Amino acid sequence: MRLAHHLTIKNGHLHINGLDCVTLAEKYGTPLYVTSEDRVVEQFESYKKALGARYPRVQVLFAAKANGNLALMRALAAKGAGADVFSSGELELALKAGMAPEKLLFNGSSKTPADLKLAVAKGVKVSLDSLDELHQLDFVAAKAKKTVRVSFRVNPALQVPTHPKIATGLKTSKFGIPHEEIPAAYREALACKSIRPVGIHCHIGSQILDVEPFARAAEVMVRIAKELTEMGVKLEFIDLGGGLGIPYHHDTDPAPTAEDYAAKVVPIFKAGVEACGITPELWVEPGRSLVADSTVLLTRVNSTKIAHKRFANVDAGFNLLIRPAMYDAYHEIIAANKADAPLSTEYTVTGPICETGDILAPDRKLPELSAGDIIALLDAGAYGYAMSSQYNGRPRCPEVLIKGTQAGLMRRGETIGDITAAMERPPWQQ
Ligand code: LLP
Repeated sequence: MRLAHHLTIKNGHLHINGLDCVTLAEKYGTPLYVTSEDRVVEQFESYKKALGARYPRVQVLFAAKANGNLALMRALAAKGAGADVFSSGELELALKAGMAPEKLLFNGSSKTPADLKLAVAKGVKVSLDSLDELHQLDFVAAKAKKTVRVSFRVNPALQVPTHPKIATGLKTSKFGIPHEEIPAAYREALACKSIRPVGIHCHIGSQILDVEPFARAAEVMVRIAKELTEMGVKLEFIDLGGGLGIPYHHDTDPAPTAEDYAAKVVPIFKAGVEACGITPELWVEPGRSLVADSTVLLTRVNSTKIAHKRFANVDAGFNLLIRPAMYDAYHEIIAANKADAPLSTEYTVTGPICETGDILAPDRKLPELSAGDIIALLDAGAYGYAMSSQYNGRPRCPEVLIKGTQAGLMRRGETIGDITAAMERPPWQQ
């Protein structure tokens, strides 16, 4: 199987950044998320370089929803990353990680009054999802005697080749303002006392393995930029949304790169803004493509059995990686301690959760397995730990970060005490 260069097989064991995954599993226990910081930084730099080579004013914002660990966000902040944050919590994380407020965009399709207040207090830009939200923000900003710089999220009404649950810019999607109503929205924003519209934003969907839909989105965005410029909006940034998908099937899926993305999208962007006579910053907000392949989820085989088919029951389930259950997402798997052995036997790899749908990997060819073997689920760095839960009374597992060949915890494993810590006795149970 094709592997990214930070993953190697040596002496029959899977290694990450040269460190033996089996040794890491023994040292920290399983389940265990292990992430290569170097790989994340490399992916971030590849976007910066590919876009920056074609247009001088570029900002790469990490979509914090993909992986909100502070250690990772700190590493990205040190390289100059900003962030797309989708909640007050993600905003606090980004600031804590050292990201500059001017490089943050507070997105969100349903912001609370407290979210709006925090955005104003921290002086970050806000991407608005409705006119209702515009007026609420204007009110909050006026009260704080501040002016807030905003964009609207454009719904470009584009069909994209991805799972329907992660297509975000369909005509029927809950996000944003229909593109044909965008000029009217900016007109309304221009009339607000404490609002300054300075950007436009969109996101068409995630896990898209073709650059064409991004090109279509860029065309819509520069068309809108022209109308807005003519209307008197001074555009400081145009945010084209998330990044590319990743090849789920390493050997057969297309694997477009940041270079492919930039080569297709930037010329459209550049020609579009030149036609407007403006030089706004070009923003992108990749999540998955920055972090997905940096991470493996190591899980131990608890037992095997043959029922209507052969099952390998492991210690991680959809509590830790919900993507297969939620989106039928395919994650490549490797028996980390038998990585050279012939793939002789078909297994369905199942988690420990009391749900029929708790299947991490159906019908996969693996070496013959027995209790104690370590399975690595690849490409687990995006929307993996970030979407985990404590379902079935299971504390979340630790996360290890690796830089060079140094490994360290970036999050300790939870305990049962962490599960009960926020629970209270209601008055009648005192
Ligand atoms: N910006 C906005 C406004 C977004 O809504 C998203 C993702 C991104 C950026 C990052 O997109 P990316 O580069 O990661 O494609 N949990 C799902 C993915 C949901 C994506 C939602 N929005 C999954 O596990 O596949």
